[in-house]
Amino acid sequence: MTEHPAGQTPQIRNIVVIGSGAMGRQIGMVAAVAGFSTTVQDVSEDAVRNAEQDMRTWLDGRVAKGRMDQPAADAAWANLEFTTGLEQAAATADLVVEAATERLDVKRSIFTRLDGLTPEHTILATNSSTYGSSAVADATNRPDRVCNMHFFNPALVMKCVEVVRHGQTSDATVDAVMAVAQAMGKEPVLLNKEIPGFVANRLMGAIRAEALELLDGGVASLEDIDTAAKTALGHPMGPFELMDLVGLDVTYLIRQAHYDETGDEAEKPQRLLEEKYRAGEFGRKTGKGWYSYD
Ligand code: 3HC
Repeated sequence: MTEHPAGQTPQIRNIVVIGSGAMGRQIGMVAAVAGFSTTVQDVSEDAVRNAEQDMRTWLDGRVAKGRMDQPAADAAWANLEFTTGLEQAAATADLVVEAATERLDVKRSIFTRLDGLTPEHTILATNSSTYGSSAVADATNRPDRVCNMHFFNPALVMKCVEVVRHGQTSDATVDAVMAVAQAMGKEPVLLNKEIPGFVANRLMGAIRAEALELLDGGVASLEDIDTAAKTALGHPMGPFELMDLVGLDVTYLIRQAHYDETGDEAEKPQRLLEEKYRAGEFGRKTGKGWYSYD
C-alpha cells in the first residue's frame, strides 16, 4: 500500500494476524480466501504448525465437499503464510489484526512492538472482545489508526464483525476496516463508542446469564435449556453448547473483566461458570465443558 493523504481511506493489500489460536488462524484464512496477502504469526513454532495443518485440512475439506474449486483453494493457500517471525511481515503490513491471548499486558506490548515495526499508514486492530481498543491505542503513537475488529467463532462461518471505534479512531480507519470486512464477505456492524461486551456479546451474555440461573435453580437440565433455545428461539446452538464452543475460559475471563471494570455484583461470573473455569473444563478445547467431547 502507498501512503494515503490524511482523511482518505487506505487501500489494504497485506494483512498480518497476530496469534494462531482458534480465532487467529481462521481470521487469517478468511483474509487469504478473500485475496489478501496474509501472514499469521505466533510465538510458538508448535502453535504455528498446528494452525497451518488445521487450515490445510479445512481447505482440503472445502474442495472435497465441492464448496471450493481447486484453483481457488490453491490461490488462498498461496496467499497465506504461517510464521513465528514478525519483522518481515510487519514491514509491509497495511492492516494488523491482533488475536493474541486476552491479557491486556500482552496486548499492550504487542501494540507497542507493532507500532515500531509497521509503516506509518498501517492500521492496528484488535480482535479482543474483552478490551476496547482505547486500552491499547495509547501504547502506540498512532491512536487514530487503532480500533477493534471483532470476529465471531467460528470466524470462517460467522458473518458478523464488530468494528468498534474509540474516541480518537479516525473516519479513514473505520472506513478501511469496514471495507476489508466487507471484502472478506462479512457483514460488519459499527459501534460508535466503546462499551463492555460490545453489541453481540451483550445480547448473548443476557441469554447466558439467564440459562445459568435456570440451571443453578434446578429449573431444567442444561440439555433441555439448550434444546429450548434451539427449538423455541431458532438459535443454531444452545447457550451451554455455545459456551463450550467459545471456551469457558474466554467466557469467564470476559465476565471477570466486566466485573473488574464496573464493580457491579450483577456482572460477577456466575457460580457454575466459575466452578467450570477453576476445574479447567473449558469446553471443546479441553475435551470437557458442559458436555464431553471425544
Ligand atoms: N470451523 C470452520 N467451519 C465450520 C466450523 C468450524 N469450527 N463449524 C462448522 N463449520 C462449517 C461447516 O463446515 C459447514 O460448512 P458448509 O455448510 O459450507 O459445508 C457449516 O459451518 C455448517 O456446519 P455444520 O452443518 O457442521 O453444523 P451447524 O449447521 O450446526 O453449524 C455452527 C455449526 C456454524 C457453529 C452453528 O452451530 C452456529 O452458528 N453456532 C453459533 C455460533 C455462534 O453463536 N458463534 C458466536 C460465538 S461468540 C464469539 O465468538 C464472540 C467471542 O468474543 C467470544
